[in-house]
This record gives sequence, structure tokens and C-alpha cells, in this order.
Amino acid sequence: MAFELPPLPYAKNALAPHMSEQTLDFHYGKHHNGYVVKLNTLVPGTKYESMSLMDVIAESSKVAADKGIFNNSAQIWNHSFYWECLSPDGGGDPSGALYDALTSSFGSVDTFREQFSQKAVTLFGSGWAWLVKKADGSLAIEQTSNADTPVTGSDTPLLTCDVWEHAYYVDYRNARPKYVEAYWNLVNWDFVAKNLG
Ligand code: FE2
Repeated sequence: MAFELPPLPYAKNALAPHMSEQTLDFHYGKHHNGYVVKLNTLVPGTKYESMSLMDVIAESSKVAADKGIFNNSAQIWNHSFYWECLSPDGGGDPSGALYDALTSSFGSVDTFREQFSQKAVTLFGSGWAWLVKKADGSLAIEQTSNADTPVTGSDTPLLTCDVWEHAYYVDYRNARPKYVEAYWNLVNWDFVAKNLG
């Protein structure tokens, strides 16, 4: 059973002007799809062949020799999660339990946005910024490098921002801060609230 590219939750032009159709063409159609194609060349004949994507990520993360399998499987999951974090109807402020959780953890939603943006902008090289729920129920903002993902640990991811250059170079060239600023217009708070549970 081959791994598959999940459908985008919206049309490729639905996130414009904050994120262009051309960015989605490349980021979803080439990069995300590329991880799927690559993983499907790596797993046949291995113990990973019949595992779920989550199990592939968890198992390959423990085996140095399977770094390629880890990188591609984790990037498939990270990107599928990232697309769900965005919405043409996104942006604005969260409400309800999520608003309360962000306010009590960070002081205000604006302070949360500032701190998350800071983590996204300052991450050196390629990677991801995350809002996670820790095992003790508290919220935290984290950075992961390259394909690394919170799902290999005990944290529950609530929100992510892809800060690989391929996420913003088409629309914002090297200006990662401009991309992160635009990102807030797309954040799907309903999805974040659902992840908070
Ligand atoms: Fe990406």
C-alpha cells in the first residue's frame, strides 16, 4: 500500500493574496508530493512497508541508518498538518477555550503571535515553528529543524508554520518576516481549537 498525497483542503488559489497559487503549485505540488514519491521508493522491501505513516515516523526516528525514511515520512506529516493550519477563512482572533488557553499561557493573543513569530523568524536554516500542548497540559512554542516534528515526542502539535525557504521564496523572496506576518491572515483557529481538544 503506497503512501498518498492527501488532498489540499482548499483550492490552490484560495490563499491569495497572502500565499499565491504559484507557491501552492510548488510547495504542495512539488515539495510535499516529492516527499510522498520519495518515501514510496524507499520503503518497499523494508519493515516500514506495511506501517502507518505515524509508525514509520516513530520507528525510523530511532534508526540512524533510516534517516532518509524519517525525513520523507515526517515531512509528509508536517506538510499535511501545515495545510490544515491554513484556511481562506482564517485569520483574526481565536475564541472560546483556545482564546482562554492562549491568554493564560502567554498573557494575550497578541503576545502569543509575537512570540510565535519570533520563533519562526529566528529559526536558523530550514524547519518549523510549533504551538504545542505539553504532556502536563501547558502550551509552549517550539522550533524544530529540517524534518523534525513534535510527533516523535510527547507534545501534541496544535499549530505550525513552515519556515523552509520553499514556503515563502516565490511570494516574499528572502523576507521570511513578511511571510510570517502574512501567515497570521490565514491561520485556521478552528483547526487549532480542535487539536487543543
Ligand atoms: Fe514545506
